Amino acid sequence: MEKFVINGGRALDGDVAISGAKNAAVAIIPAVVLCDEPCRIENIPNISDVTLIGRILQEMGAEVKRINKSTLYIDPKGIETTSATSDLVRGMRASYYLLGALLGRSHSARVCLPGGCNFGARPIDLHLKGFAAMGARHELVNGAIIDVHSDYRLKGNHIYLDFASVGATINIMLAAVKAEGQTIIENAAKEPHIVDLANFLNSMGAQIRGAGTDTIKIRGVDFLHGVSYSIIPDQIEAGTYMCAAAATRGRVLVKNVTPKHLESITAKLREIGCEIKEFDEAVLVDATKRPLTRCNVKTMPHPGFPTDCQPQFAVLLTTVEGTSIINESVWDNRYQYVSELTLMGAHISVEGRLAIIEGGSRLSAAPVKASDLRAGAAMIIAGLCADGTTEVSSIQYIERGYEDIVEKLTNLGADIRKVYYEDHSGENSLRA
Ligand code: EPU
Repeated sequence: MEKFVINGGRALDGDVAISGAKNAAVAIIPAVVLCDEPCRIENIPNISDVTLIGRILQEMGAEVKRINKSTLYIDPKGIETTSATSDLVRGMRASYYLLGALLGRSHSARVCLPGGCNFGARPIDLHLKGFAAMGARHELVNGAIIDVHSDYRLKGNHIYLDFASVGATINIMLAAVKAEGQTIIENAAKEPHIVDLANFLNSMGAQIRGAGTDTIKIRGVDFLHGVSYSIIPDQIEAGTYMCAAAATRGRVLVKNVTPKHLESITAKLREIGCEIKEFDEAVLVDATKRPLTRCNVKTMPHPGFPTDCQPQFAVLLTTVEGTSIINESVWDNRYQYVSELTLMGAHISVEGRLAIIEGGSRLSAAPVKASDLRAGAAMIIAGLCADGTTEVSSIQYIERGYEDIVEKLTNLGADIRKVYYEDHSGENSLRA
C-alpha cells in the first residue's frame, strides 16, 4: 500500500502548472467511440481514471496509444462490441458515458453499473429518461448491467432535466450526436467540461449549439471525422491549489488555467481576505497580506461554487477565526471527510446538508484516510496546515484525479512524500 506523509506548517510559495481536466478527459475519451476515424487528444492528465478508461476502450477493440505523457491516440475502428461489462468498467464512474456513446454509435449498449467515489446515492434515472425520450428501452440485467437499446436509429426529442445533471447532460448529448433530427436538452448542466465535450464533438463535425447555457440543441449527423483536440485545464485541480495556498497562508501562481472557470472560487477567496490577481491563463493567490475571515458557502451547479472544491474549502475555513457554514446542495452525503478532520482537531458539526465549522484552532497531525478523491485532497491540505507529521492513507482515490501531486506540492515548498507500507488491516483495498 501507499500513503502520503506530510510534515505540515510550511506556507506554499511559487508556481504550479495545472493539468488537463479529469472530468473533461473521462467524457471526451469515451466520446471517441462515436468517431469514424482516429483522434489525437492532447492535454490529457496522467491520472488513474484516464488510464482506466483507456484500457476499457482497448478491451472493447479500440487502438489506444499514449504518444507522450499528455497525448493519447485513439482509433475506434476496431470496436465491434456494444458491451462494456468487465471489472474495469465497475472501477470508475465515468464509464457510464459508454452508454451514450455506444447508443449513439450502434443504438445499443450494455454497460456495468458504474462505481466511482462513494458519497451517497448516485442514481442515473435522468440519463435513462433522456435515452427513453429518444426511443431506447432499458433493463437491468442481473442487478449489475444496464442494457439500453433501440431497434432503430435514435430519434431526437425535447428533453427537460429535473436537475442540471452533468452526467445526464453528457450522456444525452453523446446519444444525440448521431440521432435522427434535433434533440433539445433543457435545464442542461453548464460545467466547463460540458462545453469542452461539445467543442470536441463539433470539431469532429457534430452540430451542437448552446453548450454552456441552459438549453443545448443537437442536430444529428451521419459521420464524425478524426481530429486533434486539446482539452481544457482542470478547474478543480486549480481550485484545490488555490485553497491550499490560502490555507497555508502562502502565495501561489496557479498557471495554465482559464480564470473564468475559477470565478466562484476566486470570489470566495477574495471574500475571506485573500488577494487574487487574474492573468490571461493564470491566477495569483496571495494569503500573506492580512488575516483571513470566515464566510458561508453554498455549493451549486456551475457557475456556482463547485461541490468538488467543497472539502478543500472546508479545510481552509477551519484555519480562520469564527463560525463558517457550508451548505452542500449537490450531493446528499459529501461530508465523510469531517470525521477525519475532527481527528486532526477541527471543530465541525454536520446537520443534514449543512456543516458548521468553528474555525481558528490549529490542526494537529493524525493518521487519516482519503474517503474519496476530493476528501483526499482536503486531507492533504489539512496535513500541509497541521503541526506535526500527518499520514494520509487510501491515496488510490487521490491518484484517480491529481497528476503529480507530490511533485507539484514539493515544488511549492511542501514537505510531502509517498511511502510504501504493508497493509494487514484489509481496510484499504480499492473500493470502486
Ligand atoms: N442525479 C439524479 N439523477 C441522475 C443524475 C444525477 O438524481 O440521473 C443527482 C445526483 O444524485 C446528485 C446530483 O444530481 O445529487 C448531481 O449529479 P450529477 O449527475 O451532476 O453528477 P455526476 O455527473 O455523477 C459529475 C462529476 C462529479 C461532480 C458532479 C457535480 C464526473 C465524472 N463527475 O458527477 O465529480 O461532483 O458532476 O458537479 O464528471 C469529482 O470529480 O470528484 C466528482 C465527483
